[in-house]
Amino acid sequence: MGVNALAYVTFDMADPAYWQSLYTRVLGMQLTERADGAIEVRCDEMHHRITLYPTGTDALRSVGWQLPDAEALDDLVAKLRARGLDVTEGSAELCAERRVHRLYRFFEPFLSVETELIVGQHSDRYAFVPTRGIAGYRTGPLGLGHVVFHTHDVEGAVTFYREVMGFGLSDYMGWADAAAVFLHCNPRHHTLAIMNLCMGRKSGHFNHIMFEALDYDDVGYAYDVARDDRHPMIMDLGKHTNDHVHSFYIRTPGDYGVEYGWGGRLVGPDWQVRFYDQPMLYGHRIPR
Ligand SMILES: [Fe+2]
Repeated sequence: MGVNALAYVTFDMADPAYWQSLYTRVLGMQLTERADGAIEVRCDEMHHRITLYPTGTDALRSVGWQLPDAEALDDLVAKLRARGLDVTEGSAELCAERRVHRLYRFFEPFLSVETELIVGQHSDRYAFVPTRGIAGYRTGPLGLGHVVFHTHDVEGAVTFYREVMGFGLSDYMGWADAAAVFLHCNPRHHTLAIMNLCMGRKSGHFNHIMFEALDYDDVGYAYDVARDDRHPMIMDLGKHTNDHVHSFYIRTPGDYGVEYGWGGRLVGPDWQVRFYDQPMLYGHRIPR
Protein backbone atom coordinates (compact mmCIF):
# COMPACT_ATOMS: atom_id res chain seq x y z
CA MET A 1 0.00 0.00 0.00
CA GLY A 2 1.35 3.41 -0.97
CA VAL A 3 0.57 7.04 -0.21
CA ASN A 4 -2.89 7.54 1.33
CA ALA A 5 -3.12 11.34 1.74
CA LEU A 6 -1.57 14.74 1.09
CA ALA A 7 -0.31 15.61 4.60
CA TYR A 8 1.17 19.09 4.07
CA VAL A 9 2.81 21.45 1.60
CA THR A 10 5.64 23.93 2.22
CA PHE A 11 6.31 27.12 0.24
CA ASP A 12 8.88 29.89 -0.08
CA MET A 13 7.37 33.37 0.33
CA ALA A 14 8.54 36.87 -0.57
CA ASP A 15 6.01 39.08 1.23
CA PRO A 16 4.70 37.67 4.54
CA ALA A 17 1.97 40.36 4.72
CA TYR A 18 0.45 39.16 1.44
CA TRP A 19 0.30 35.52 2.57
CA GLN A 20 -0.99 36.40 6.03
CA SER A 21 -3.81 38.33 4.38
CA LEU A 22 -4.65 35.55 1.87
CA TYR A 23 -4.65 32.75 4.44
CA THR A 24 -6.62 34.64 7.10
CA ARG A 25 -8.93 37.14 5.35
CA VAL A 26 -9.83 34.95 2.36
CA LEU A 27 -9.36 31.40 3.66
CA GLY A 28 -10.06 31.93 7.38
CA MET A 29 -7.08 29.80 8.41
CA GLN A 30 -5.09 30.10 11.66
CA LEU A 31 -1.48 31.32 11.56
CA THR A 32 1.45 30.93 13.91
CA GLU A 33 4.66 32.89 13.27
CA ARG A 34 7.74 31.00 14.36
CA ALA A 35 10.87 32.55 15.87
CA ASP A 36 12.73 32.01 12.55
CA GLY A 37 10.10 34.02 10.65
CA ALA A 38 8.38 31.03 9.02
CA ILE A 39 4.60 30.97 9.18
CA GLU A 40 2.68 27.80 10.03
CA VAL A 41 -0.87 27.62 8.69
CA ARG A 42 -3.53 25.51 10.35
CA CYS A 43 -6.92 24.53 8.90
CA ASP A 44 -8.01 21.47 10.88
CA GLU A 45 -7.01 19.30 13.85
CA MET A 46 -3.43 18.92 12.58
CA HIS A 47 -0.76 21.14 14.16
CA HIS A 48 -0.26 22.78 10.76
CA ARG A 49 -0.73 21.86 7.11
CA ILE A 50 1.19 24.65 5.32
CA THR A 51 4.58 26.18 6.14
CA LEU A 52 5.69 29.43 4.49
CA TYR A 53 9.41 30.28 4.59
CA PRO A 54 10.50 33.94 4.23
CA THR A 55 13.15 33.42 1.54
CA GLY A 56 12.46 36.41 -0.71
CA THR A 57 10.82 34.35 -3.47
CA ASP A 58 7.39 32.76 -4.00
CA ALA A 59 7.46 29.09 -4.98
CA LEU A 60 6.52 25.59 -3.94
CA ARG A 61 9.18 24.13 -1.66
CA SER A 62 8.10 20.56 -0.83
CA VAL A 63 5.12 18.23 -0.79
CA GLY A 64 4.49 15.90 2.17
CA TRP A 65 2.77 12.60 1.39
CA GLN A 66 1.36 10.43 4.18
CA LEU A 67 1.84 6.67 4.36
CA PRO A 68 -0.64 4.57 6.37
CA ASP A 69 1.98 3.01 8.66
CA ALA A 70 5.71 2.46 9.21
CA GLU A 71 5.77 -0.78 7.16
CA ALA A 72 4.25 0.96 4.15
CA LEU A 73 6.78 3.79 4.53
CA ASP A 74 9.71 1.34 4.66
CA ASP A 75 8.34 -0.58 1.64
CA LEU A 76 8.01 2.62 -0.43
CA VAL A 77 11.51 3.81 0.53
CA ALA A 78 12.91 0.41 -0.55
CA LYS A 79 11.05 0.63 -3.90
CA LEU A 80 12.38 4.15 -4.54
CA ARG A 81 15.95 3.16 -3.68
CA ALA A 82 15.67 0.10 -5.95
CA ARG A 83 14.90 2.58 -8.75
CA GLY A 84 18.10 4.48 -7.98
CA LEU A 85 16.50 7.45 -6.23
CA ASP A 86 18.48 9.05 -3.42
CA VAL A 87 16.15 8.79 -0.42
CA THR A 88 17.41 10.13 2.90
CA GLU A 89 15.91 9.80 6.35
CA GLY A 90 14.75 13.06 7.89
CA SER A 91 16.61 14.22 10.98
CA ALA A 92 14.93 14.49 14.38
CA GLU A 93 15.03 18.27 13.90
CA LEU A 94 13.19 18.07 10.57
CA CYS A 95 10.59 15.66 12.01
CA ALA A 96 10.05 18.11 14.89
CA GLU A 97 9.70 21.04 12.48
CA ARG A 98 7.24 19.15 10.26
CA ARG A 99 5.44 17.76 13.35
CA VAL A 100 5.60 14.17 12.13
CA HIS A 101 6.72 10.91 13.74
CA ARG A 102 8.95 9.69 10.88
CA LEU A 103 10.04 11.21 7.57
CA TYR A 104 12.04 10.38 4.44
CA ARG A 105 12.80 12.81 1.61
CA PHE A 106 13.88 12.61 -2.02
CA PHE A 107 13.82 14.72 -5.18
CA GLU A 108 11.07 13.40 -7.45
CA PRO A 109 12.36 13.95 -11.01
CA PHE A 110 9.13 13.66 -13.06
CA LEU A 111 7.46 16.71 -11.50
CA SER A 112 10.77 18.17 -10.24
CA VAL A 113 9.51 18.39 -6.69
CA GLU A 114 11.15 17.94 -3.29
CA THR A 115 9.10 15.10 -1.86
CA GLU A 116 8.68 14.05 1.75
CA LEU A 117 7.13 10.77 2.88
CA ILE A 118 5.77 10.72 6.40
CA VAL A 119 4.02 8.68 9.05
CA GLY A 120 2.33 10.05 12.14
CA GLN A 121 1.44 13.69 11.51
CA HIS A 122 0.84 15.46 14.81
CA SER A 123 -2.75 16.11 15.78
CA ASP A 124 -3.08 19.13 18.09
CA ARG A 125 -4.89 18.90 21.42
CA TYR A 126 -6.52 22.30 20.91
CA ALA A 127 -9.27 22.99 18.39
CA PHE A 128 -8.70 24.82 15.10
CA VAL A 129 -9.76 28.45 15.57
CA PRO A 130 -10.63 30.02 12.20
CA THR A 131 -10.06 33.75 11.73
CA ARG A 132 -13.57 34.16 10.27
CA GLY A 133 -16.78 32.27 11.05
CA ILE A 134 -16.30 29.40 8.60
CA ALA A 135 -17.48 25.79 8.94
CA GLY A 136 -13.92 24.54 8.30
CA TYR A 137 -12.12 22.32 5.83
CA ARG A 138 -12.85 18.88 4.41
CA THR A 139 -9.68 17.00 5.32
CA GLY A 140 -9.40 13.98 7.68
CA PRO A 141 -9.04 10.76 5.65
CA LEU A 142 -9.23 12.82 2.42
CA GLY A 143 -6.01 14.68 3.27
CA LEU A 144 -5.27 18.38 2.88
CA GLY A 145 -6.60 18.89 -0.66
CA HIS A 146 -4.99 18.50 -4.06
CA VAL A 147 -1.92 19.69 -5.97
CA VAL A 148 -1.41 20.05 -9.74
CA PHE A 149 1.87 20.11 -11.69
CA HIS A 150 3.04 20.49 -15.30
CA THR A 151 5.63 18.17 -16.83
CA HIS A 152 7.13 17.35 -20.22
CA ASP A 153 6.73 13.66 -19.36
CA VAL A 154 3.09 13.11 -18.37
CA GLU A 155 3.23 9.40 -19.16
CA GLY A 156 6.40 8.85 -17.10
CA ALA A 157 5.02 10.83 -14.17
CA VAL A 158 1.65 9.05 -14.20
CA THR A 159 3.35 5.64 -14.39
CA PHE A 160 5.62 6.59 -11.45
CA TYR A 161 2.78 7.82 -9.23
CA ARG A 162 0.58 4.80 -10.08
CA GLU A 163 3.14 2.00 -9.99
CA VAL A 164 5.53 3.25 -7.30
CA MET A 165 3.71 5.79 -5.12
CA GLY A 166 0.45 3.83 -5.09
CA PHE A 167 -2.04 6.25 -6.69
CA GLY A 168 -5.12 5.17 -8.67
CA LEU A 169 -6.41 6.62 -11.94
CA SER A 170 -9.50 8.87 -11.63
CA ASP A 171 -9.91 10.24 -15.15
CA TYR A 172 -8.40 12.03 -18.14
CA MET A 173 -9.04 15.49 -19.53
CA GLY A 174 -8.07 17.23 -22.75
CA TRP A 175 -9.05 20.62 -24.18
CA ALA A 176 -7.31 23.17 -26.43
CA ASP A 177 -3.56 22.45 -25.96
CA ALA A 178 -4.06 21.01 -22.46
CA ALA A 179 -3.95 17.38 -21.34
CA ALA A 180 -4.38 16.30 -17.72
CA VAL A 181 -4.46 13.03 -15.79
CA PHE A 182 -6.19 12.93 -12.39
CA LEU A 183 -5.01 10.54 -9.67
CA HIS A 184 -6.42 9.58 -6.26
CA CYS A 185 -4.86 8.05 -3.15
CA ASN A 186 -8.04 8.04 -0.99
CA PRO A 187 -11.72 8.71 -1.82
CA ARG A 188 -11.05 12.38 -2.72
CA HIS A 189 -11.56 12.52 -6.51
CA HIS A 190 -7.98 13.60 -7.05
CA THR A 191 -5.14 14.48 -4.74
CA LEU A 192 -2.68 14.89 -7.62
CA ALA A 193 -3.21 16.02 -11.21
CA ILE A 194 -0.47 15.97 -13.84
CA MET A 195 -0.65 18.28 -16.86
CA ASN A 196 1.36 18.65 -20.07
CA LEU A 197 3.28 21.80 -21.04
CA CYS A 198 0.17 23.74 -22.04
CA MET A 199 -0.55 27.42 -21.29
CA GLY A 200 3.14 28.26 -21.78
CA ARG A 201 4.15 26.34 -18.65
CA LYS A 202 7.61 24.87 -18.14
CA SER A 203 8.26 21.36 -16.84
CA GLY A 204 7.99 21.24 -13.06
CA HIS A 205 5.74 24.31 -12.90
CA PHE A 206 3.39 24.12 -9.95
CA ASN A 207 -0.13 24.93 -11.21
CA HIS A 208 -2.23 25.16 -8.03
CA ILE A 209 -3.19 23.88 -4.60
CA MET A 210 -6.83 23.25 -3.74
CA PHE A 211 -8.51 23.56 -0.33
CA GLU A 212 -12.06 22.21 0.10
CA ALA A 213 -14.59 23.96 2.33
CA LEU A 214 -17.19 22.07 4.36
CA ASP A 215 -19.88 24.63 3.45
CA TYR A 216 -20.49 26.16 0.02
CA ASP A 217 -21.45 29.50 1.57
CA ASP A 218 -17.88 29.85 2.86
CA VAL A 219 -16.64 29.72 -0.75
CA GLY A 220 -19.10 32.48 -1.62
CA TYR A 221 -18.10 34.67 1.32
CA ALA A 222 -14.40 34.09 0.50
CA TYR A 223 -15.03 35.04 -3.13
CA ASP A 224 -16.45 38.38 -1.97
CA VAL A 225 -13.47 39.00 0.33
CA ALA A 226 -11.05 38.08 -2.46
CA ARG A 227 -12.77 40.50 -4.88
CA ASP A 228 -12.91 43.26 -2.25
CA ASP A 229 -9.20 42.74 -1.48
CA ARG A 230 -8.48 42.89 -5.25
CA HIS A 231 -6.91 39.45 -5.56
CA PRO A 232 -6.47 38.68 -9.27
CA MET A 233 -8.54 35.67 -10.36
CA ILE A 234 -7.24 32.91 -12.61
CA MET A 235 -10.81 31.63 -12.89
CA ASP A 236 -14.08 32.97 -11.54
CA LEU A 237 -16.63 30.81 -9.69
CA GLY A 238 -17.61 27.68 -11.60
CA LYS A 239 -18.08 23.90 -11.42
CA HIS A 240 -15.66 21.26 -12.73
CA THR A 241 -16.72 18.47 -15.07
CA ASN A 242 -14.87 15.64 -13.37
CA ASP A 243 -14.75 16.16 -9.58
CA HIS A 244 -17.88 18.40 -9.55
CA VAL A 245 -16.08 20.92 -7.29
CA HIS A 246 -17.58 24.42 -7.20
CA SER A 247 -14.61 26.77 -6.86
CA PHE A 248 -12.67 29.87 -7.82
CA TYR A 249 -8.92 30.31 -8.35
CA ILE A 250 -6.75 33.16 -7.04
CA ARG A 251 -3.50 34.01 -8.85
CA THR A 252 -0.75 34.37 -6.25
CA PRO A 253 2.59 36.21 -6.62
CA GLY A 254 4.29 32.82 -7.11
CA ASP A 255 2.36 32.50 -10.40
CA TYR A 256 0.54 29.48 -9.03
CA GLY A 257 -3.11 29.30 -8.06
CA VAL A 258 -4.99 28.79 -4.83
CA GLU A 259 -8.29 27.05 -5.55
CA TYR A 260 -10.99 27.31 -2.91
CA GLY A 261 -13.80 24.84 -3.54
CA TRP A 262 -16.67 22.79 -2.21
CA GLY A 263 -18.63 19.66 -3.04
CA GLY A 264 -16.04 17.31 -4.52
CA ARG A 265 -17.37 13.86 -5.35
CA LEU A 266 -15.71 10.76 -3.99
CA VAL A 267 -14.15 7.84 -5.83
CA GLY A 268 -15.63 4.51 -4.72
CA PRO A 269 -15.22 0.86 -5.75
CA ASP A 270 -17.62 1.28 -8.72
CA TRP A 271 -15.72 4.31 -10.11
CA GLN A 272 -15.64 4.52 -13.92
CA VAL A 273 -12.66 6.21 -15.58
CA ARG A 274 -13.83 8.83 -18.09
CA PHE A 275 -12.35 11.33 -20.54
CA TYR A 276 -13.59 14.93 -20.30
CA ASP A 277 -13.17 17.43 -23.16
CA GLN A 278 -13.72 20.49 -20.94
CA PRO A 279 -12.62 21.32 -17.37
CA MET A 280 -15.84 23.18 -16.50
CA LEU A 281 -19.54 22.35 -16.55
CA TYR A 282 -20.22 26.07 -16.21
CA GLY A 283 -18.48 29.22 -14.97
CA HIS A 284 -14.72 29.19 -14.31
CA ARG A 285 -14.49 32.08 -16.78
CA ILE A 286 -11.06 33.64 -17.18
CA PRO A 287 -11.34 37.35 -16.30
CA ARG A 288 -10.41 39.73 -19.12
FE1 LIG B 1 -8.04 21.91 -8.84
